[in-house]
Amino acid sequence: MIGRAGRNVTITGLGCHVPERILTNDDLREYVDTSDEWIISRTGIRERRIAGPDEAMTDIALPACRRALEMAGVDPASIDLLVVATVTPDMAFPSTAALLADTLGMPDAAAYDLSAGCTGFMYAIAQAYAMVAAGLSQRALVVGGDVLSKILDWSDRSTLVLFGDGAGAVVLEPVEQGGFLGFELGADGGGGASLWLPGSGSRAFEEPERFVKMNGREVFKFATRVMVSSAQAILDECGKTVDDIDVYVPHQANIRIINHASEKLGVPEEKIVINVDRYGNTSSGSIPLALADAADDGRLVPGKLVLMTGMGAGLTWGSALIDWTHRTTGAVA
Ligand code: ACO
Repeated sequence: MIGRAGRNVTITGLGCHVPERILTNDDLREYVDTSDEWIISRTGIRERRIAGPDEAMTDIALPACRRALEMAGVDPASIDLLVVATVTPDMAFPSTAALLADTLGMPDAAAYDLSAGCTGFMYAIAQAYAMVAAGLSQRALVVGGDVLSKILDWSDRSTLVLFGDGAGAVVLEPVEQGGFLGFELGADGGGGASLWLPGSGSRAFEEPERFVKMNGREVFKFATRVMVSSAQAILDECGKTVDDIDVYVPHQANIRIINHASEKLGVPEEKIVINVDRYGNTSSGSIPLALADAADDGRLVPGKLVLMTGMGAGLTWGSALIDWTHRTTGAVA
């Protein structure tokens, strides 16, 4: 899918939240045979945030939502659409979105969860954007986040060291000028078994898993390909070039994937937002957390052209271009 829709829509509020507990690479040696040197050289990750035993997706998402709403200066009751991208909802149902809408006080909101792996946030803002652009929604709240620590095998070093917990939220509203220029989204279920949780749904497996299974090399090859092809597709679609980009917000899975994509695309270092060193891969939380960092660095100011690209389980990918319109400092908790 590629293109744009109806009236202009922009991000007017932005917030993020991560659990308090920090786990360094050295801390992980208590669980698996690994080293700080191996993790940093293969992934760029130094530490990650890990939820407490009683912390679930809604607990992490709630402060991010409140911050985004406060920055946008909107009454929660005026939100008529809440989409939550996550593969770690509090439970299969009711949805995380319905629970959040109730807690936040959004009686008029349609609320649902969406599953697209680490690309979830890109899918969710595309949906909300299209509904606001078409006039069905007047004001939407979009959340991306995951508590992957709850579905990781803490004895599997090939996955444990890569992920962390966190969430971000954005408010989407119509705007006169600027805002989203377009989206490109895709999926390849044929590669789904490279990153999956067999036995977590209605399909019976002989050896069901309770934890994430990943073929790291396959995902790496997929990621390096689509991070480039998706970005190029949306730039071409919008009549822009890499030189037009002011801020590049890639999915924060691995510094080697980010560097590969940036080099292939030709994005200079100073335009890339990187926080994988502090948070690891937070799945659907990755791009909104990176946006919040860029906002607080003073990089997201009106007039800047921002490219976001995500990829993840599905396998899925997605990119968006946005002509930034609002001042958005104070996003980081
Ligand atoms: N610590 C120490 N050694 C390790 C660790 C670890 N944590 N993990 C693996 N190793 C060992 C392996 O056992 C192997 O040892 P061997 O050579 O004796 O067999 C060696 O290190 C090399 O392992 P590789 O898997 O070949 O390492 P690679 O360089 O491919 O890096 C990595 C692995 C980091 C997982 C890489 O493949 C990668 O980043 N893949 C993409 C993963 C990703 O982005 N996933 C998220 C997608 S988004 C989503 O939807 C969640």
